[in-house]
Amino acid sequence: MSKTPPLEVIILAAGKGTRMYSDVPKVLHIIGNQPLLAHVIGVARALSPKAIHVVYGHGGESVPEAINQADLNWVMQDQQLGTGHAVDQAMPHVDDDSRVLVLYGDVPLTRASSLQALVDIAGDGVAVMTALLGDASGYGRIVRDKNSNDVMAIVEHKDLADDQTGINEINSGYITAPAKQLRQWLTQLGNNNAAGEYYLTDIVAMSVADAISVKGHIAKDNDEILGINNKQQLAYLERAYQTRIAADLLTQGVTLRDPARIDVRGELQAGRDVEIDINVVIEGKVILGDRAHIGPNCVLKNISIGDDTQVFANSVLEQAEIGKACRIGPFARIRPEAVIADEAHIGNFVEIKKSHIGKGSKVNHLAYIGDTQMGSGVNIGAGTITCNYDGANKYQTIIGDNAFIGSNTQLVAPVKVGDNATIGAGSTITADTPGDQLTLTRVKQKSISGWKRPVKK
Ligand code: UD1
Ligand code: CA
Repeated sequence: MSKTPPLEVIILAAGKGTRMYSDVPKVLHIIGNQPLLAHVIGVARALSPKAIHVVYGHGGESVPEAINQADLNWVMQDQQLGTGHAVDQAMPHVDDDSRVLVLYGDVPLTRASSLQALVDIAGDGVAVMTALLGDASGYGRIVRDKNSNDVMAIVEHKDLADDQTGINEINSGYITAPAKQLRQWLTQLGNNNAAGEYYLTDIVAMSVADAISVKGHIAKDNDEILGINNKQQLAYLERAYQTRIAADLLTQGVTLRDPARIDVRGELQAGRDVEIDINVVIEGKVILGDRAHIGPNCVLKNISIGDDTQVFANSVLEQAEIGKACRIGPFARIRPEAVIADEAHIGNFVEIKKSHIGKGSKVNHLAYIGDTQMGSGVNIGAGTITCNYDGANKYQTIIGDNAFIGSNTQLVAPVKVGDNATIGAGSTITADTPGDQLTLTRVKQKSISGWKRPVKK
């Protein structure tokens, strides 16, 4: 075999997706946290191709805009006249000495290793990715030569002869061919078939006629070649995708209490002896330190969590940094730009936003802390809130080390509480409070003797 030619990938993504019943172009529907087309581009990139050409049509410019990757070559197909016509739109941009690999923008779960195997098996010739399906209806069928086992033709479902209906090896649509020959074959395509389309699959018989062998590579896993035409298939492949991620996490040593009940919509990086309970949703980039435990029904989005930290049930944590050996939740809400230092406790029905919580500080019950710089060893009583917003502007609260804030305190920002200050329960603090002193704004308690409850008239 001569030296390996450069690879150029053509992704077909012009189709309409009528059965999605959606205003969103089909290839922009989401699996995990990415559009279908982005999955396909990602797997194409893993092969280090010289160029990636994307043939788009339905959805117009909204497709390249949503994908927004600068090095892709976008090729408009105004009318969808068939897969052969679609590939032909990209060919003027493809070099003669390249090898072409055709992928579909609505087939999201193909593995790079399978595509590499397809390219390898092609040698200097042509190869198609196939699959063995129990129900082959709707697909093009693979006709093999009885002796050589090479592929002789692909026959579309609508065009099957009576003696071909029993074939259960199907065409995935993924095909690789030398650019020079492919270009020539494409000019010879006609549309005299049951669908009236220019079928890419017709190049197989042309290749055989030109004495260039066509290999068939059977996919290991049928999910790798499944395309999406409706919401049932979208839901099925979402679960297949999640099952793969869960299997990878288990292989890495993460404990999943139930691998069928985790959703990773992004990237999860986990240390040793991490444990994740059921119904946890991971979004964006999430980093979990060694021995981190995540309780049931938590949502973690773009967050890092230190070693030995425990997050209890029903907590929602977004875009924050959480230190080591913290206790978070149950029912905690941590919002963007929160930084929680080591050993801090954030308890139930506590909301933290854009605040720094110092080492070992405790905000255990029913509190709102926003726009706050809090030192270490602080204790915040139940029901405490920072009044950070006057309806127009936001203001800072600063709380010194080891301050003790009594329950149900309002800290009206901008305000500073000194180190070791104690605030009496129920206070409304509107001015800076000195350190090492008790400050309280409580009305003096009184009792009225001889008072009688009203009675019903
Ligand atoms: C195609 C194959 C069939 C295979 C099946 C696998 C042909 C003739 N048939 O059939 O053998 O079993 O895929 O799913 O190739 N597209 C365009 N522009 C077009 C036409 C299609 O971009 O003009 C895109 C579609 O958006 C889709 C892909 O190409 O992503 C396949 O097109 P589709 O119409 O679904 O092909 P099938 O008829 O299902
Ligand atoms: Ca199809």
